[in-house]
Amino acid sequence: MLILGLNMFHADASAAIVQDGEVVFAIAEERLNRIKHYAGFPALAVQACLDAVGAKISDVDHVAVGQDSDANLAKKVQYALANPAKILNFIRLRQRKEGMRDVRSLLAKSLAADSKALRFQEHHLEHHIAHIASAYYCSPWEKAAGFSYDGSGDFVSTMLARCEGNEIEVLERVFLPHSLGSFYTMICEFIGYKKYGDEGKVMGLAPYGRDTYCEQVGKAVALKNGGFELDLSYFMPLGSNQGMQIMDDGTVCLAQHFSGRMKELFGEPTEPYSKIPQRDMDLAYAMQRRFEEVFFHLLNDLHKRVPLEDLAMAGGCALNSVANGKLFRETSFRRTWIQPAAGDEGLAIGAALHTYHSVLKQPRRYVMKNSYLGPEFSDARIEADLKKANLRYAKLEREPLLEAVAGQVASGNVVGWFQGRVEWGPRALGNRSIVAHPGLPDMKDVLNARIKHREWFRPFAPSILEDRQSEYFEHDHPSPFMLHVYKIRPEKREQLCAVNHVDDTGRLQTVTREENPLYYDLIQAFERKTGIPVILNTSFNENEPIVCIPQEAIDCFQRTRMDVLAIGTYLVLKTEN
Ligand SMILES: [Fe+2]
Repeated sequence: MLILGLNMFHADASAAIVQDGEVVFAIAEERLNRIKHYAGFPALAVQACLDAVGAKISDVDHVAVGQDSDANLAKKVQYALANPAKILNFIRLRQRKEGMRDVRSLLAKSLAADSKALRFQEHHLEHHIAHIASAYYCSPWEKAAGFSYDGSGDFVSTMLARCEGNEIEVLERVFLPHSLGSFYTMICEFIGYKKYGDEGKVMGLAPYGRDTYCEQVGKAVALKNGGFELDLSYFMPLGSNQGMQIMDDGTVCLAQHFSGRMKELFGEPTEPYSKIPQRDMDLAYAMQRRFEEVFFHLLNDLHKRVPLEDLAMAGGCALNSVANGKLFRETSFRRTWIQPAAGDEGLAIGAALHTYHSVLKQPRRYVMKNSYLGPEFSDARIEADLKKANLRYAKLEREPLLEAVAGQVASGNVVGWFQGRVEWGPRALGNRSIVAHPGLPDMKDVLNARIKHREWFRPFAPSILEDRQSEYFEHDHPSPFMLHVYKIRPEKREQLCAVNHVDDTGRLQTVTREENPLYYDLIQAFERKTGIPVILNTSFNENEPIVCIPQEAIDCFQRTRMDVLAIGTYLVLKTEN
């Protein structure tokens, strides 16, 4: 049985294909069309899914979309009636969404197929149920507490659920305009980070701040039983566009979230790309602090209702790895399973698995053990692309390749590491990564000057052999998808100085031999040379979506001052080219 999952006309459009209950291929459209956070129809991703299983769209039995514009309709209408100025906007948006709901014609058109030949059944699933499904149905658990939170989806920002067997029972919804995601975005915009997805950057700024504005910023979100409420005077009134607009080219544009009250309290907002004043660091600090307080409040409430140790979680805010790292201390949950594509691309998998288990009542049999769900490329294709680029290269066996790359990294060189299948979700996890020495004091500056050009306050992340985690970090819950930040042990901070953030933490990826033998063995080879079982891992890109095909990796290598490219079995040195 084939189920195609879709996130479409929403940020991070994506497609996933589930074959007999197993996710066999999934990819966000941005990796293929190269438009960051693309929010149109994921035509290329759908084609890639079908190619991966050798099927045509007429072979697909079910299509599941992680959006249901009829969900929570009463709440939407109630809000629109209470805010008459928004009614027209609301109707317009709904009409536009109706046009986008004709999945059959959209698929037929994009794949040049005869729509009469399409025999699939169509399913629409509420946004946050799809988020929770993307975590719970990928986890190894038969029951768990389910949690999802983000800016908004189907007029909801937060959902609490009980997950058991084939069912996800919704316990609580927090409706718009109350949204922890919007709270975070509002402050990010105020301090000059106005692009969709900038929130993750500002998380790195927070530890540079001091406790100056915690009280004032804290007042923007009040805790309630089973939820929270925004003080709306800090915010522009919510339009029916839910604070974000999808442009005709599929890019996403954020509307201004902060109101005049923010200016009264904190002065003028900061212009993008200007010098960061201490005030903004302090605001970032207060924002992260309040975010965590509300998050733990919600989780503790959830735990009271679902007193289990296992938490399945997704939604864009679940990418807040700092909060995730602290939840073991602040709540009674002992294990997390967080969907690696916690943002909206994950909806494609959630909707497809929900259809398989909850709608079609098929038994659980799948666990997502790694995120390597995208395309891969043969050596023949890679070699042809290297020749096309006129590069000199050496073809190496597995061991000599690992030795050579480990030696290059140990000597301080920066290596592009392109291997196997593309990662699903926003993190590069050892298949489309740039790797470097984690213990050289100037490595962060070198990477930024030569390739990444990131803001000075953003840390780089460590990949560590999972069996060595507790030697280096103060927590031993694994983090295979780089979704937890833990303190680095004092005696190891110097060894990891290039990945040790200002508050002595690291957003680690724990690597096992079972899930990525080549990457595991690379880190081990590096340890043999340096005594450090850790490698610095940052995504293989330069201000663009992470590279997907060999050609993009080669371009990035040639364009930037990367020293070495290890692509498939081929090694390319800048000094020889
Ligand atoms: Fe979402």
